[in-house]
Amino acid sequence: TTLGIDLGTSGLRALLVSDDGTPLGSVERSFTVQRPHPGWSEQDPRQWVDALDDAVAELSARYPAFADLTGIGVAGHMHGATLLDEAGSVLRPCILWNDTRSAVQAARLDATPHVRDLSGNMVFPGFTAPKLAWVAEHEPDIFASVSMVLLPSGYMNFHLTGEAVADMSDSAGTSWLDVGARDWSDRLLDAGGMRRDQMPRLVEGSQQAGVLRSELARRWGVGEHVIVAGGAGDNAAAACGIGALRDGQGFVSLGTSGVLLMARDEYRPDAASAVHTFCHAVPDRWYQMGVILSATDSLNWLSRVTGARPAELASALGETLRAPGPELFVPYLSGERTPHNDAAARGVFTGLGAATGREDMTRAVLEGVSFALRDCAEALAGTGARAEWLFAIGGGAQSLYWLRLLATVLDTPLAVPASGEFGAALGAARLARLAVTGEAPDDVIVPPEAGQLIEPDKALRGAFDETYARYRATYPAIRDIGSG
Ligand code: XUL
Repeated sequence: TTLGIDLGTSGLRALLVSDDGTPLGSVERSFTVQRPHPGWSEQDPRQWVDALDDAVAELSARYPAFADLTGIGVAGHMHGATLLDEAGSVLRPCILWNDTRSAVQAARLDATPHVRDLSGNMVFPGFTAPKLAWVAEHEPDIFASVSMVLLPSGYMNFHLTGEAVADMSDSAGTSWLDVGARDWSDRLLDAGGMRRDQMPRLVEGSQQAGVLRSELARRWGVGEHVIVAGGAGDNAAAACGIGALRDGQGFVSLGTSGVLLMARDEYRPDAASAVHTFCHAVPDRWYQMGVILSATDSLNWLSRVTGARPAELASALGETLRAPGPELFVPYLSGERTPHNDAAARGVFTGLGAATGREDMTRAVLEGVSFALRDCAEALAGTGARAEWLFAIGGGAQSLYWLRLLATVLDTPLAVPASGEFGAALGAARLARLAVTGEAPDDVIVPPEAGQLIEPDKALRGAFDETYARYRATYPAIRDIGSG
């Protein structure tokens, strides 16, 4: 059996998978995010290790097949800076992907010559390099003691194997990696005030990173030669879970944040469009994605304001797609990444009238999020990334109305996976299997069965195109009055 671990922002999920790829069972443990100051978001890596210990104890008690474990893969939330001293001890809480304190340092690095070219990406405040620049300026004693920087999945690899080893897909989100060459870049490290010896050894996500430490193997009741794979950042792992490995394959995710991701056969960065171009978790492949920061979070916000549950709001719209109305919502509640890279941007409602009611506002919120994802699709199309259809995943994909709306706004048919497992934990378990067996990635990383295809509503396309044009004009018009 193999174990796929999805280290998320709010908790850890461990999934046990049989050698033929059948999911056997999973357990979850939750943990917390600390926000000691506005814009800060931190986590003590101890929580990850404790959650894993606990999850493994329950998995091994529930599933006898756990004792046959041959491989482990970890998917982690991306970009987090875990700083270790020479003894391998954690120097300060991990600074997470959604921490915005290093906006100034990010802008400075982003403007440094060659940084975009080599890293293939804009430097976003959430990325790792600006976090270290912030630590250098604000916590110089800690910075001076940094002997190793690990991302969350890399820290788990370190815990599991005793070695500092990281995979390409996660390392691509640091702004220190030459994403085309799949190697640390001395020039980028230099720009960020870092050294190569502070970076983990690199492997592909589907390659062996190391072997489970014997102390853990004994405690877990497994054999002596359990292989730990390179693993992945959670988005690359999600792509592995849903079988998105080559041009034309991708997904759109309506989670707290929203993601539109497409796998790529070649490296085609377009940093200026605020598209992320990262290494995939298997050799010689990349993926590109647009990220929006408030997808279902926008509906959750409306839910809090109106006192109606999110599902209640969505179901009040029925299942037949309505034409857009005068109300327009821009979902930048927590700032936006693609296409603006603007942490200070804020949301807005326009077109409100005396007759505007709760359903109109719900409709506008779902539309605004869909338009934001169309911005991502347009940015991806600029790099040549296109798909004939996409999988739709995440909590928002449970609303048939939202699926019909999104298919129409993107002018792309959407399919929901028919059933079962397809997430980052499965992707991580698949990477573990590849590291153990050496099979070809295309044989193991395959799509799940798709449910019925949700087609765009041709009759309403034109109306949504017109409203999308209004949506596009809104941000430039409000940017300067923004959040005051
Ligand atoms: C990707 C990103 C998030 C985290 C969340 O760039 O910041 O999707 O990986 O887990």
